[in-house]
Amino acid sequence: MRPVRWFLNVVPRTLRAFVPALARPDDPFAREVLRPEEFALYLRMDPRDRHHGVAVARAVLARDPGAESVVLRAAILHDVGKSVAPYRAWERIAVHVLVPASRRPRRGALGDALRRHLEHAERGAELIRAAGGDARVADLVARHHHSDPEPHLALLRAADEAT
Ligand SMILES: [Fe+2]
Ligand SMILES: [Fe+2]
Repeated sequence: MRPVRWFLNVVPRTLRAFVPALARPDDPFAREVLRPEEFALYLRMDPRDRHHGVAVARAVLARDPGAESVVLRAAILHDVGKSVAPYRAWERIAVHVLVPASRRPRRGALGDALRRHLEHAERGAELIRAAGGDARVADLVARHHHSDPEPHLALLRAADEAT
């Protein structure tokens, strides 16, 4: 991503992390796109993660107006695995700084946060399967950080990175 684009994405996201009132998740859009069991999971997400999920779905549509429903649903729910713990702004910032160097095991709250972050994609897929959600949506969510050239996944990843 170009530095200016990166900056324009990171600044509002960081502000939103610390000022939850800035999050404006478009829940009616999510309700329209998701199936009822998926929407119930969506509502368990912090408003900041709901805001991000909907923004990623809109970025998918901007890239491909005919995007399949499974990609849009996976976009909205891609970070649902983060809903297993309360949203903590310091944790979100810390894991982004530390993940590239996270091979070394860490203890305490930071270690827990890192583990949750590293596992959130697989956790999210498990939540979707356990809720009776679509296996293809769960599969895209499980792999949303993989560098796989599969077109649905590539579209989801590009939208996530740009949002
Ligand atoms: Fe993620
Ligand atoms: Fe994301």
